[in-house]
Amino acid sequence: MSSTPATPNDLSAYWMPFTANRSFKKAPRMLGRAKDMHYYTPEGRKLLDGAAGLWCVNAGHSRDPIVKAIQDQAAEMDFAPPFNFGHPKAFQLATRVAAMAPGDLDHVFFANSGSEAVDTALKMAIAYFTTIGQGQRTKFIGRARGYHGVGFGGISVGGISPNRKMFGNALAGVDHLPATYNRAEQAFAKGEPEWGAHLADELENIVALHDASTIAAVIVEPMAGSTGVIAPPKGYLQKLRAICDKYGILLIFDEVITGFGRLGYSFAAERYNIVPDLLTFAKGITSGTVPMGGVIARKGIHDAFMKGPEHMVELFHGYTYSAHPLACAAGLATLDVYEKEGLFERARSIESTWADAVHSLKGLPNVADIRTIGLVGAVDLAPNAVGPGKRGFEAMDEAYHRQDLLIRIAGDTIVLSPPLIISDAQIGEVVERTAKTIKALG
Ligand SMILES: Cc1ncc(COP(=O)(O)O)c(C=O)c1O
Repeated sequence: MSSTPATPNDLSAYWMPFTANRSFKKAPRMLGRAKDMHYYTPEGRKLLDGAAGLWCVNAGHSRDPIVKAIQDQAAEMDFAPPFNFGHPKAFQLATRVAAMAPGDLDHVFFANSGSEAVDTALKMAIAYFTTIGQGQRTKFIGRARGYHGVGFGGISVGGISPNRKMFGNALAGVDHLPATYNRAEQAFAKGEPEWGAHLADELENIVALHDASTIAAVIVEPMAGSTGVIAPPKGYLQKLRAICDKYGILLIFDEVITGFGRLGYSFAAERYNIVPDLLTFAKGITSGTVPMGGVIARKGIHDAFMKGPEHMVELFHGYTYSAHPLACAAGLATLDVYEKEGLFERARSIESTWADAVHSLKGLPNVADIRTIGLVGAVDLAPNAVGPGKRGFEAMDEAYHRQDLLIRIAGDTIVLSPPLIISDAQIGEVVERTAKTIKALG
């Protein structure tokens, strides 16, 4: 083993996640620091953040109260074992998150990422049915084009094929609903499309095929984000809720992206007035500052576990870093910022300004569709001659290197999801720079 420190420009050792490593290392897109709405390259070039990092920095970057809370917590207590011991901020944060969630979503289990949150929720669903004497309910229904992180559970219920096909057989007993996007019926939709609620009825057929008594849960993102932004058709989620209720199947909302203001509410569950049985969150809980995720469970699910001898562990599940003190401190300070600055309300109040601005990109070269919902926008570009994904990749590269804009891409779709603190003028800048990016592409 060499003790020689790596030179700063040695890029080979770091195997980057979900990244084209070889192209990155030829022309790196480096970020050095961040403040509020901006990133700065290590050389000091200022980029507007059109993606809230990766859908997570909802409060804006390196906000003073959040930074201070993390610093103070690191000095006061770095770590506390979450098994058999507690620390006050874990209970405070759980109480606040539960209070933000609708209905009797009353109990919060902490993990460290969206992927862990999803696998926790899937395990909770199966364990719940085992606990209530329906242990034969082990199957899950996900949805085509769904993204639920990268754990084996998450890729099994997920429906993005490259995330699954390299990894062999994952969970058995998983089926998928159809995706709800249909360009012919929904092109250039603002908000929830009118067309598509009937696609929820496919759940009836899937239930008939497998038999309700074998199905534990249906898991969906209320708005499918990672696949390129698919808003739920009007009435679709309500139908899913009704069919799940009819057959005693749990409904899991994966709100890793939609939680904490992205759609103008604490959770999409609130926007759509639906109480799922389990709700996963991550990202915005700490505004991306310290990794954290979690699951909010309805009272009845939690309470089903709270029996048997009191000295016994009720759920054999958890992580060394569940409710990590730094994450809890960051979470509490982040929720304070959201509340004091009314950021969820702000997202709601600028939704139509945002939608109009993003839809103004219609008519630019190769723009095939545009979708907006909450503070999210997606611009589908037609693939270029090289094949799917190349034009999207070039858009991201162009935006970073020449248009001073950070965007996210999903294949050939440009995805915009800025921090909720974005000003009206900055909405204009994001859209203008996106337009320049699109025009610059061949
Ligand atoms: C809906 C959803 N679930 C789960 C995840 C996985 O989260 P993480 O990358 O924190 O594991 C994501 C990430 O984007 C997501 O969008």
